[in-house]
Amino acid sequence: MSLPDHVRIVEVGPRDGLQNETVTIPTATKLELIHRLADAGLTTVEATAFVSPKWVPQMADHADVLRSIRRRPGVNYPVLTPNMKGFEAAAEAGAEEVAVFGAASETFSNKNINCSIDESLERFRPVIEAASERGIRVRGYVSCVLGCPYEGAIDPTTVARVATALYAMGCYEISLGDTIGTGTPLKAKRMVEAVAGHVPMNAIAAHFHDTYGQALANLYAVMELGVATVDASVAGLGGCPYARGASGNVATEDVVYMLDGMDITSGADLQALAATGRWISAELGREPVSRVARALAAKG
Ligand code: HMG
Ligand code: MG
Repeated sequence: MSLPDHVRIVEVGPRDGLQNETVTIPTATKLELIHRLADAGLTTVEATAFVSPKWVPQMADHADVLRSIRRRPGVNYPVLTPNMKGFEAAAEAGAEEVAVFGAASETFSNKNINCSIDESLERFRPVIEAASERGIRVRGYVSCVLGCPYEGAIDPTTVARVATALYAMGCYEISLGDTIGTGTPLKAKRMVEAVAGHVPMNAIAAHFHDTYGQALANLYAVMELGVATVDASVAGLGGCPYARGASGNVATEDVVYMLDGMDITSGADLQALAATGRWISAELGREPVSRVARALAAKG
């Protein structure tokens, strides 16, 4: 299988990137980030999460964020919805796409959304049905696909079982999350092959965190299998509050640099992204994690 000609980037910085920040980020800053990312050519910008503010305080302004987005034509602004309460609030605030998020690890599922894997699937079913009735698209996440902070190694057949269930319930795309970034290329390939036995390749997305510096290598490996949707977070921001030690997703700048260098289109403007990454990192009082962003800044 050859590499894809085009990769769709799902920018998750405003949600995955910011959810773990302990200092409350002003809603206006979140909105500016979302606007800048869309202006940089990204066509999917995950905006926020309609989760419990007791569990993830940083996302408590979800309705304000979603309502206030200056929507750019052709750009999707999906939001996370773990249950019907979150879905109703998201729909009310104008969501056109939502995401349910399960896991391939029982312990992580319990720590993250307070229920077992099977209970989570039953909780997602009415969300997916209600979304379908209202013409709202649903994406499905599976976390811990290459390792769990509590259980260690995860069997690819478990990943395939959860991914298949979400796809069968009506998720249009399944995002496979290496939540703690412990994966390596051959394991990533084997895991995607296991899922692709049940879910079409064009409905599979790679959501790789870069904790151990393996994310680009893992992405390249699964792109060789035909994966053409990649989740990434500007400046490499982020982590999951229920996966201690997990760093951000692979940085969007790093992904775009790699794609540009292989003549694979994504529609994203590297310079605009790097500027956005520097700006949000300054707002958070740190340097961008992205090596590409640092190299571009050093060049001046
Ligand atoms: P629970 O405590 O079992 O929920 O949490 P509950 O139904 O018993 O309700 C408890 C309270 O929360 C009630 O309020 C509800 O109204 C409220 P109270 O009566 O105590 O005042 N509540 C809500 N409020 C707002 N929005 C809602 C909502 N639902 C209930 N949707 C729950 C279950 C799922 C709500 C909770 O565990 C939760 O919010 N978890 C979210 C955790 C999270 O956001 N984690 C990060 C995202 S996942 C991730 O980062 C991984 C990913 O990036 C992929 C990867 O990297 O692998 C996607
Ligand atoms: Mg994530």
